[in-house]
Amino acid sequence: MTVTALQSLPLPPGSRGFPILGETGDWARDPLKFAHDRSARYGHIWRTHLMGRPTIVMLGPEANRFILGTHMHLFSSRLGWSKTITSLIGDGLSLLDGATHRRHRAMIMPALHGAALGQYFDEMYAQVRAHAARWLAAGELTMFRAFKHLSFDIATRLMLGPQSQPEAAECFRLFHTFTRGLFAPPAWKLPWLPYGKAWEAGQRLRPMLRRIVGEHRRTALPGTILSMLIAAHDEDGQGFSDDELIDELLVLLWAGHDTITSLLTWVVYELARDPAIAGPVLAEQHALGDTLTPADVRRMPVLDRVLREAERLHPPAPGGFRAVIEEFEYSGYRIPVGWNVMYSSVFTHTMPDLWNEPGRFNPERFAAPQNEGRQPFCLVGFGGGPRVCVGLAFAQMQMRIVMAHLLRTLRFELLPNQRFDPVAVPTRMPRDGLRVRVRPA
Ligand code: HEM
Repeated sequence: MTVTALQSLPLPPGSRGFPILGETGDWARDPLKFAHDRSARYGHIWRTHLMGRPTIVMLGPEANRFILGTHMHLFSSRLGWSKTITSLIGDGLSLLDGATHRRHRAMIMPALHGAALGQYFDEMYAQVRAHAARWLAAGELTMFRAFKHLSFDIATRLMLGPQSQPEAAECFRLFHTFTRGLFAPPAWKLPWLPYGKAWEAGQRLRPMLRRIVGEHRRTALPGTILSMLIAAHDEDGQGFSDDELIDELLVLLWAGHDTITSLLTWVVYELARDPAIAGPVLAEQHALGDTLTPADVRRMPVLDRVLREAERLHPPAPGGFRAVIEEFEYSGYRIPVGWNVMYSSVFTHTMPDLWNEPGRFNPERFAAPQNEGRQPFCLVGFGGGPRVCVGLAFAQMQMRIVMAHLLRTLRFELLPNQRFDPVAVPTRMPRDGLRVRVRPA
């Protein structure tokens, strides 16, 4: 299409919402309702204003394929993120574009796939055994918080190696403050704002990570993800610099534990409230034998369907943003440079033409004869295309090990007087964090 023809096309329909805030409040409160309400009014493409940016929302698997796959060259990931995130994380993988992104991704991939994964089994299993024993002793707990500690311990152990108890506790505290500022505009370094606190925490985390990187380089400490990243090099034989490693570690630690925490919390919720779902998952674990082995992890189709159904109905990220760097036409509308586009996982995951009874948690929809979810880009809880979650295989393995051990050893009972409606941003969780009573199996 010529530039003049493109210029003559209209913008998608929609509303800007309130000054400055736009429609951010509606979206953050309930991203699914936000998308449903507007799609009923405007169809599958419309404009809005989110987090200080004019934004065009494109809905459905075809839009997901366009943004994440076939037309990804029209977009920048980095420019699509808010200033709070880019200024705190720097140049980690999810904030890179083009050749630099491809270089970093190729160097990170081997540490999170294939043979490397096998090395992580023992640590993941040891950590879940230790945490589960403490949960049982405590008797009652809030699952979101408990999974956050577990996932963070697994991530830091595997990425950075063992730390002293005080250092590990300090690292957890700083990281918690750091991640709370990622989605909390404005990006002003004032000590009482979440962003200001996150900035301060980042100023302390970076030297800690720099020291750990230095120790790894000096001692050639084997077996950690960091040691693999240090050994990685590109086609020209160049490795990561210390600054690049620090940014990558911040991204991997953040992306690598909050999302898993969220998804596992919803899995426990769904299993605890419905014995008809829990029954077959338990039976599968009992059939596998007493001690969990690495081979078992690949033989859990029932649990796997539960995890996929949790990804569908409770995706930790409601969708994703990209900034438009080249004007284009979509569905007869003009999508201008400088605007953001958003794809919506929550919406795609509940489209009635893709999913039967989309509001119902039904893992068996993925099995024969229904075989739902086979259409490309209809299940995008981990993104899709060349930028699909780089930690997907790592996350799947960890979630299977954690759930397999918990199913074999513990029972979770939902405590009364709590709210389960989801808080969506920054990471989806039940409003009260899922309070449970823990008993031995
Ligand atoms: C349940 C667990 C997880 C979920 C649901 C999840 C979800 C996602 C999604 C949706 C994206 C794509 C965002 C976009 O393109 O719009 C993504 C990318 C990414 N994820 Fe994950 N993730 C999970 C676990 C992990 C783990 C364990 C790690 C690291 C160990 C990780 C590291 C990353 C990184 C670095 C990216 C950026 C990839 C790139 O841009 O090339 N994630 N993840």
